[in-house]
Amino acid sequence: MTDWGLKNRLARIFRQDGKTVMLAVDHGYFLGPTSGLEDAAGTIKPLLPYADALMPTRGIIRTSVDPLTATPMVLRVSGGNSILDEDLSNEGITVSMEDAVRLNVAAVALSIYVGSPNQKETLLNLTRLVDEGQRYGIPVLAVTAVGKSMGRDVRYLALACRIAAELGAHVVKTYYCEGFEKVVKTCPVPVVMAGGKKLPEPEALELTYNAIRRGAAGVDMGRNIFQAEAPTAMIQAVSAVVHDNETPKRAFDLYNSLKSQSKGGRKAKLKGVTASKEELSRH
Ligand code: 5RP
Repeated sequence: MTDWGLKNRLARIFRQDGKTVMLAVDHGYFLGPTSGLEDAAGTIKPLLPYADALMPTRGIIRTSVDPLTATPMVLRVSGGNSILDEDLSNEGITVSMEDAVRLNVAAVALSIYVGSPNQKETLLNLTRLVDEGQRYGIPVLAVTAVGKSMGRDVRYLALACRIAAELGAHVVKTYYCEGFEKVVKTCPVPVVMAGGKKLPEPEALELTYNAIRRGAAGVDMGRNIFQAEAPTAMIQAVSAVVHDNETPKRAFDLYNSLKSQSKGGRKAKLKGVTASKEELSRH
């Protein structure tokens, strides 16, 4: 079967339930040292065991991800823009498929900017990646980036997701919107939800729950996990919504109990240290 490899790679990203919790840590390719990712290695290490997949850049894989991990990589392979640009849509391909294969990635990811001045270039980037990926059995995830001047409404996101799928993307990542079920129903490949800007944890869990209920095949979340007060508690709460159909309330309860355990753990460790200091001062 020629597509065996591609199917096997997708099966590493999506669990048997057809869903995934992908941890996005690719923000630096245009945002630089974004809050929560200043120490990428330190942020990623504790979260990796709970992620179904990781979405890093090439530089972060090389410097900040343990090569012994079994967690599949979805490699960000587009870029060339920065937050200093007026228009973020001017992206090209930044990693060769050969290097992606060398990095043993499970998929590659790029942004498309439908409706932007660079729409055509970003869409042809997608088709080039799909063609090159076919040669090696590497699936392509298209991120429907929403430039500063575009609306995240169902009409726009349904258009962008469908174009990505029509041009050959195997998975599409997009933002949640009212009428999200229409985005999913009119897109013939799996749709995962990008988390977007940091929200209070209960709201982020509600967003995840709504997206899953409306057919999302999971999330590709970054800031709402690594900028949470307790990131490892948050990724487990998100996973409970995605994989265990937990309600936002029960997931938030899980978040809080995991957070207090980890705090308790930290306090216990600190207590141990301070006690020994007191003991020492008594002798
Ligand atoms: C940036 C990206 C990020 O990977 C994506 O936005 C997910 O991260 P977050 O949940 O923080 O939005 O594609 O263009």
